[in-house]
Amino acid sequence: MNTIIESINRAVEEAKSRCAAAKSQADIESVRIDYLGRNGLFPELSRQMGTIPAEERRETGAAFNTGRTAIQQAMDEAVARFTGSASNDDIIDITLPGRRQCVGRKHPISRLAEECVAIFRRMGFIAVDGPEIESIYHNFDALNTPMDHPSRDPQDTFYFPDGRILRSQTSPVQIRVMETHEPPVRIVAPGRVFRRDTPDATHGMNFHQIEGLYVDKNVSMADLKSVLQDFAREMFGQDVRIRLRPHFFPFTEPSVEYDFSCVVCGGKGCNVCKHSGWIEIAGAGMVDPQVFRNVGYDPEVWSGYAFGLGIERLAMLRFHIPDLRFLYENDVRFLEQF
Ligand code: PHE
Repeated sequence: MNTIIESINRAVEEAKSRCAAAKSQADIESVRIDYLGRNGLFPELSRQMGTIPAEERRETGAAFNTGRTAIQQAMDEAVARFTGSASNDDIIDITLPGRRQCVGRKHPISRLAEECVAIFRRMGFIAVDGPEIESIYHNFDALNTPMDHPSRDPQDTFYFPDGRILRSQTSPVQIRVMETHEPPVRIVAPGRVFRRDTPDATHGMNFHQIEGLYVDKNVSMADLKSVLQDFAREMFGQDVRIRLRPHFFPFTEPSVEYDFSCVVCGGKGCNVCKHSGWIEIAGAGMVDPQVFRNVGYDPEVWSGYAFGLGIERLAMLRFHIPDLRFLYENDVRFLEQF
């Protein structure tokens, strides 16, 4: 037996089992292309026929013809399974469970951001948007950030070669709104922010904030506290407490950092709140008069508060997520729970 006959026998076996396993007419067509088609195996073998010794030609030619017929027959039988008279019973098993369609859904962060914005809308805030690639002026200068403030350091903030940056906070949206609108102003601005942090359970290199800004006459710290308290209750129920701690931000005076009591453990201490009973949400304060001057508002007439909200921090509380990194690994086993 020569190598051509061996190839023919092998091809027949292969083609038959492919036809038997075929799930569609297209599968059968691909068998035809591979073996009988213009660039398939059989035309190729027929070109090689001239290279074999004369005494083997007869036998080889016969094998060629039987092989080709066998493949054609296997294909015809397979096609019959998909068409006309042949019964469908042997290819469709109606007792098999159906294939489940996977429907996509919103990421928990998007969902939560929308929920926060809805709460603030009900309190009279308008949602606005700002660019993720910011000017240094909007992200730092106009927000009264001193030249030697650590947040300006390239170790903390991502700089582009042209001098623009990835915004490190949503606070520049305050500036953009005040530059283009006369007071009173009452906005929230959700969005993505970027910092050169080493990712761990409570920090990421990019995360999400909602900025809030309220400017009017006679706005006080009590107004700020009440809006944060109302927000916390809307989001987590009546039992959640808030706590303000003195802090410093260049664009607010006085400034605070604020925490919500841990709703996972009710303040008793658990791994979500790192056993402190509180989760830091972000910063807030009364708009610094210098910021008003920078945007052309008269600080003798106008007063206001601003706050930031860390959406990931809220997500930890809301969905009992002990580690922020789950939110970004796109593991469907995690995402499916929302
Ligand atoms: N931008 C501040 C931060 O990212 C939070 C903040 C917003 C503080 C508004 C005061 C007022 O930490």
